[in-house]
Amino acid sequence: MLNIAVLCGALNLFGLTSAVPYNTFDGEGFPACNNVAQVYRPSTIDEMVAVVKDASSKGKPVRASGNGHMWYDTMCSDDPNTVIVKTDAVNRISELVLQNGVGSVVVEAGATFPQVAEWLHARGASLGYTLVNWNITIAGAVAMGAHRSSLREHSQVSSAALAFDIINGKGELVHLERDQTNDTWLAATTSLGLLGVIARVKIEVIADFKVYADQKILDESDVLNGDIYAQISPYVTANYWWWPGLKKFHLRTYGVVPISNFGQAFQSTFSVTEVEGNLALGLLNSGQNLSAPNFATEAIFFGLWSAPNFHDKTTNFPLLFWPVSGYAYDVLIGGLYPDQRPEWEYGLHGKTLELAVPLTQANALLKRVRQLFDQAAAEGKPVTSTYRSGINIKFGKPFDSFLGQTTERVGNRTADWSKGAMMFDFPSFVPTLGDHHRYNEDWYAKLAKTLIDEFPVRPHWTKNTRDIFRQSLQNLNQDSLRRFAKVREQFDPNKTFKSIVGEIIGVV
Ligand SMILES: Cc1cc2nc3c(=O)[nH]c(=O)nc-3n(C[C@H](O)[C@H](O)[C@H](O)COP(=O)(O)OP(=O)(O)OC[C@H]3O[C@@H](n4cnc5c(N)ncnc54)[C@H](O)[C@@H]3O)c2cc1C
Ligand SMILES: *[C@@H]1O[C@H](CO)[C@@H](O)[C@H](O)[C@H]1NC(C)=O
Ligand SMILES: *[C@@H]1O[C@H](CO)[C@@H](O)[C@H](O)[C@H]1NC(C)=O
Ligand SMILES: *[C@@H]1O[C@H](CO)[C@@H](O)[C@H](O)[C@H]1NC(C)=O
Ligand SMILES: *[C@@H]1O[C@H](CO)[C@@H](O)[C@H](O)[C@H]1NC(C)=O
Ligand SMILES: *[C@@H]1O[C@H](CO)[C@@H](O)[C@H](O)[C@H]1NC(C)=O
Repeated sequence: MLNIAVLCGALNLFGLTSAVPYNTFDGEGFPACNNVAQVYRPSTIDEMVAVVKDASSKGKPVRASGNGHMWYDTMCSDDPNTVIVKTDAVNRISELVLQNGVGSVVVEAGATFPQVAEWLHARGASLGYTLVNWNITIAGAVAMGAHRSSLREHSQVSSAALAFDIINGKGELVHLERDQTNDTWLAATTSLGLLGVIARVKIEVIADFKVYADQKILDESDVLNGDIYAQISPYVTANYWWWPGLKKFHLRTYGVVPISNFGQAFQSTFSVTEVEGNLALGLLNSGQNLSAPNFATEAIFFGLWSAPNFHDKTTNFPLLFWPVSGYAYDVLIGGLYPDQRPEWEYGLHGKTLELAVPLTQANALLKRVRQLFDQAAAEGKPVTSTYRSGINIKFGKPFDSFLGQTTERVGNRTADWSKGAMMFDFPSFVPTLGDHHRYNEDWYAKLAKTLIDEFPVRPHWTKNTRDIFRQSLQNLNQDSLRRFAKVREQFDPNKTFKSIVGEIIGVV
């Protein structure tokens, strides 16, 4: 067996001498963990196993990390001895099986959505509809219950999982197979990384296919007073973007087109040119202490977002008119346009808040948010969306997992989750100046508290602050938390994989 001296030689060990922050994708000033002792970058599962064995034998906490695509300091616990296992170099893809249009593939911890999607496309397969727009790892998405948006197809990424290999607290590889009646499985499909490092995931795939993307503009009242289920459920994936200052919504829809369709559309949600990035930063910063510039910026963003955020894959020319179409992996996942960089590289940083509400209460929640916007305006401090694509509203069909956002397991307040969930995701720009407060900062906390106290909302596990998790605890199912904690105890009795999230919800 490897000892730590061998590991330091064999692995790419980031030589940290004292506790330092481990940052999210947003970089300096945006810690995922406030204090960590070491960051390992193993290149094989055996090396990951060795790191876990060594750390746990010394009582050091361990957290796996993919690409740090999360928003707040909730990845680790606050223990400065924490060791990070950065998984990106452990990214093999194997065992593709595809028969009669359906099959499976095995991916290692660090394999990302774009990487796997491209690999599958080259072999006539695809990830289906359970897709996300950014460069996150499949294991990281599965760990945290991440989702795309659909009421028709399962949208939680882990609903596509068929098997896991998880490195437990002893450094053993534990193999699990899908069994929706088994507590271990119901814990593993939203494990929050608390059972151990997910080393491999076997996921369902389907034959390669093409989709269209379409978008139309709705009046706010068409959504707030409309039949949301009827607007979303017909599509393989669909979501809203809300522009509260303009009282408009974009409705984005996706559906399957014949594979013979000649479209070559490629989506990028997050990339901008340097000129665009700097322009947006100036506009947005000017709204830090004044309300009006935020409304002016929102109107510009609304106009930009009305056009397709798609280019032709071969020519890189922007596609100007809806609908667009192309291979599913290009349309649903996409990536960066060749001449552009992610917006956060130009200082465009964000905060967010994401809460899931039963679809049966979706209209009521949106109307309550509208009241809070109106109240801020009445108080002379109007707030609006400061994000380039507005307020993002997604959906999920019910999926059973102890800690899943769309499970039908209810908290202290009973609710009907059987029609699915609406995920209200409200990103906002964080000014680069002064104390980084947003315009009318107090309003954001009031919004969160109001929604959590008045609706049975459940938090997204990487898009909320510690405070939000504390407040939302009342809405989690007590029985599921207990059963999750029992499974966690079997995998990791010494709490090697503890995290702030796990501590706040009382399962560690
Ligand atoms: C720009 C952007 C867009 C996003 N869009 C969506 C979206 O549409 N829908 C959605 O639901 N979420 C979305 N997210 C959130 C994202 O899906 C999750 O935060 C995801 O967990 C990030 O994965 P990662 O590979 O970067 O992992 P990291 O950010 O590195 O880790 C996230 C968490 O997962 C744990 N973890 C990571 N890898 C493993 C592993 N192998 N084993 C065990 N635990 C592990 C980490 O310890 C940490 O607690 C988005 C995030 C960003 C930044
Ligand atoms: C995505 O992440 C991987 C590491 O997991 C990295 O190698 C790759 O360059 C990233 N791609 C983009 C477009 O940022
Ligand atoms: C937990 O810690 C104790 C005491 O340090 C040790 O004896 C035991 O082997 C550890 N168990 C696991 C599963 O790591
Ligand atoms: C549940 O799955 C675990 C892991 O595969 C297994 O050890 C356990 O026996 C299963 N429990 C039941 C009740 O089948
Ligand atoms: C907003 O006010 C703060 C002081 O409260 C200041 O530090 C910051 O620079 C101001 N922002 C702008 C864009 O003027
Ligand atoms: C939820 O209800 C349980 C008992 O039914 C109670 O013990 C607990 O305090 C409640 N939790 C919250 C956060 O209200």
